[in-house]
Parts: sequence; C-alpha cells; structure tokens
Amino acid sequence: MSDTIFRGLVWNMVVGISQVRLYSIGHESVVVAAERVRALLDDLPDGPRTIMVVKDDLVFNNTLFRESGMHGVKLVRLLGAKGVSRVEFLQGVTTEEIRRLFADVAAAKDPPGLYAHIRLGRVELGTAAPGADADLADAAFHAEQQARVQAVYSQISPFRDLPTTGIEEVVTTFLLTFRRGANVLRMLSPVRTHSEHTYTHAINVSILAMALAESLGLKDESVQAIGVGGLLHDVGKLMIPKEILHKPGKLSDEEFGTIAKHPLYGAAYLARVEGLTPLAVLVALEHHRKFDTSGYPVLRDTGRRQHAASQIVTIADFYDALRSHRPYRRSLSMSEVLGIMHKESGTVFNPGLLARFTQLMLKAAAEA
Ligand SMILES: [Fe+2]
Ligand SMILES: [Fe+2]
Repeated sequence: MSDTIFRGLVWNMVVGISQVRLYSIGHESVVVAAERVRALLDDLPDGPRTIMVVKDDLVFNNTLFRESGMHGVKLVRLLGAKGVSRVEFLQGVTTEEIRRLFADVAAAKDPPGLYAHIRLGRVELGTAAPGADADLADAAFHAEQQARVQAVYSQISPFRDLPTTGIEEVVTTFLLTFRRGANVLRMLSPVRTHSEHTYTHAINVSILAMALAESLGLKDESVQAIGVGGLLHDVGKLMIPKEILHKPGKLSDEEFGTIAKHPLYGAAYLARVEGLTPLAVLVALEHHRKFDTSGYPVLRDTGRRQHAASQIVTIADFYDALRSHRPYRRSLSMSEVLGIMHKESGTVFNPGLLARFTQLMLKAAAEA
C-alpha cells in the first residue's frame, strides 16, 4: 500500500471531521471528503483496511507510518479524544457511513455509533489476548441503551405516568440498528452487576423478540409493539419486595407465589399507561404462560393460547434468563440454552417460532 494512498486517507479524514464540526454532515466539503476516502479505499486490493492508533503513530494494515505528518498527528488526537484506536473499513462501506463516522468523531459528547461497514475498537497492546480488542461501538451502544432504559424504569411508579416516548425511542433505535445489518448477538448487553440486571434483561428480551418478529416479516409497527412488550414484560417485578426477588437460596412456596404475581401486577400497571400499545399489557400478563396453555397466572379462559406476541417474548425471555450469569449458577452457552429449550418445544414454546429463533441465533453466531 503506497504512502500516497495512506496520506490521502489521513488528510481526507481530518478534513471531513473538521468540516463536519464547522458546517454539517450534508455540507459539500464533507461529502467530497467522504467520497475521496471511499475512492481511496476502493483503489486498495480486497482485504483488511484498518487504521490503528498505536501510541502516537498510525498503522495501516499492519504497516507503521511514523512520518504521517501534521495531519497524522491531528487524526491520532481526534480519534484518541473519542477513545477510538482502530477504524476498520469493511467491503461495501458507503460514503454515507463515512460521513456519519466523521460526525461521530467530531461530536463533543456522544459515543461513536454503529455502522454496517465500519468497525471501531480499542487497540490493546501487549497483554491483550487475540480478539480481545473490545469493540467500542458495541460498548457505546450498550451504555447508551442501558442509560435510556434506566431512565424509563426510574419513572415507573404507581403514582406517576409513564412517558411512552422514551420507550418508543429505544425500540426504534433497535429497529434501525437491525436495518443497518448489525448482528443481533453483538447488540445484546453483557450483564455486569446485579443492579444492572433488570435493565439488561429488559433490553435483551426486547432485542431478541424484535429480531424474531422481524425475521417473520411482520410490519414495523408490530415489530416495535413486540419490542415495547419485551422491554416492559417484567415491570411487575418492581412491585415485588426486593428481599424476595433477590433472595439467593431456594424460595418457599409462599415466596414463589408472591413472585408469580408479577405478570398480573405488570399488566395492571401498564393497562393504565396512556398511549401504550395494548400488546405490552398482554405480553406482561402472558409471558409466563406456556404454549400448551399451562403456566401462570391461571386465567379464567384457561384453554386460550398466548397471543403470538407473548409467545415470541416467552422465547426471548427464557433464552436471556438462561444465557445470563446469575450468582447461583454459571451462564450457559448458546447451544446449551437452545438444547434445553428444544426439550420444551410444543409444551412451553411454539415449535415453529422456536425453530425460527434457533435458526436466527445460529446464523448470528456464525456471523458474529
Ligand atoms: Fe417475568
Ligand atoms: Fe423476564
């Protein structure tokens, strides 16, 4: 790779980032810089196209460019300020994505976004195991969604109205992220601490349920309504005493009976929220009912099957609950979880939906 191409890339990236800061993402100078970056990338043979910041130097496709000049120093600083130390351009990158990258690097506060054909990461020197370079884009996505869901949850109280716009924003972000071709497994939040579990579980169930709904070809409104259902399916747990909810040992029958009321509490609460999709109420009520019409709560019309949206959320809920690490057991691998779920095909889960879900997860795992 010639020095000229590398210098051209650096120059145009610095110009693009500076211009987007001065003007806007649609400004002609930004468009031109992005087009030049793409044209330079197109000139390269197929294969990796990765710019890394290693200390104060730039490395392109494993070649160190110590003398990358004034613009090189500038690019190191601009990327460093956002914590980005690796930019990988995948085949098929568009000028629109490059412009968004400029804007994200130029933005004062927001963490870098997600792109279908650009990967951002942090270079780990020395001790890093292969593949351990944490993908900053994923981390930023998780942190942002977590903060948004936490904000929504903090408003949940029997004495207050729940603003539905925050919830809609979250599920719309998920939908747009699927559309950009993001891998569903990379979108799932890793659970870190116990206190975060409520939010990460809500986020993961919402993402998995939406991915399944989307793969069935449902309309956007339905996919979004199912996402809202997933996000709020366990709100009733906020109305259960914490000592019982977080009890590490085995629950007594009475304690289990109390926890088993969370679908009823959740549905009763959500039914009063103005402007919320009625599907969210149904999903909260039915998510612990089973495909064979057993499960809880026991409803008056016992023989009626769960709504399809609830069947989808039941699958997503079960998967995330088993997949995540809990204090009393290790987390199970994807194939272990899917194996357990398959034993319940037709009893707990709708067989057709479970087969589709399995397909979706295996495909995502192969591509992750
Ligand atoms: Fe639940
Ligand atoms: Fe749940």
